[in-house]
Amino acid sequence: MKRLEGKVAIVTGSTSGMGRATAVLFAREGAKVVVTGRNEERAKAVVDQIKEEGNEAIYVIVDTSKVEDVKRLVDVTLDTYGTVDILFNNAGALSMSPLQDVSLDEWNNIFNVNVTSALYLTQLVAPIMKEKGKGVIINTSSVAGFGAHHGFAAYVSSKHAMNGLTKSMAWELGPEIRVNGIAPGLIHTAMVDSIGGPSAVQKMIDECPLKRVGKPEDIASVALFLASDESSFIDGQIIKVDGGFEI
Ligand SMILES: NC(=O)c1ccc[n+]([C@@H]2O[C@H](COP(=O)([O-])OP(=O)(O)OC[C@H]3O[C@@H](n4cnc5c(N)ncnc54)[C@H](OP(=O)(O)O)[C@@H]3O)[C@@H](O)[C@H]2O)c1
Repeated sequence: MKRLEGKVAIVTGSTSGMGRATAVLFAREGAKVVVTGRNEERAKAVVDQIKEEGNEAIYVIVDTSKVEDVKRLVDVTLDTYGTVDILFNNAGALSMSPLQDVSLDEWNNIFNVNVTSALYLTQLVAPIMKEKGKGVIINTSSVAGFGAHHGFAAYVSSKHAMNGLTKSMAWELGPEIRVNGIAPGLIHTAMVDSIGGPSAVQKMIDECPLKRVGKPEDIASVALFLASDESSFIDGQIIKVDGGFEI
């Protein structure tokens, strides 16, 4: 028996990186997956890969910072698959402005993409999960949700907020819905390439006991564990998957 057999999973930010790896893994484990992001070419490539492997997925083009897009995502999911069992709030954007240079627009955009979209989407799917008596929500935080680093004020603040939102969701959505977070360390994705790739942050690699950059699959396997019944007594936790960076 596959671990997510018959489940319907929305994975935001699954056109790339760890969301993509998770969408592919969830589908291999029997879930019908809704792939989302803004880039249609990449979204289609993920769905094509899932279908070539004999599994089931659709894509919905969504800007998670827009409430109307998020609502359409849920509508299309319900029209296509009739329900939602798993929500992975994973879409995220990076901001690298020093504190004094962060504009209100930048601040609002980072919070909309990284935190507020998770709130909207959860408000839409939680009643469906509650009525079914079961559901799982996973939020992507970061090691930046625990510490601060020079030049990342908006990003760091948004990920600290994501931790608070995750714990609040767990309190208010139980007992039917379990909510947990994943706090990745350095994972080799397009986001890390946008700042020069792993070699640009070699110090972070050197400072972690496992001495390597993570792979998107390192996150996908933890997301699968949290989405499955194997983690049925874990709730309200933010699990660091960082090679020991934040010990
Ligand atoms: N990589 C790391 O080292 C690291 C560490 C800690 C936490 N994280 C977090 O991990 C999550 C995934 O990031 P990643 O590393 O896998 O990066 P990535 O490969 O750049 O993926 C980011 C995903 O988010 C989507 N996205 C970004 N802005 C969006 C928007 N406005 N609307 C809809 N989708 C949007 C992108 O889709 P489109 O481009 O198609 O819109 C893409 O699918 C993020 O929350 C990030 O903050 C990453």
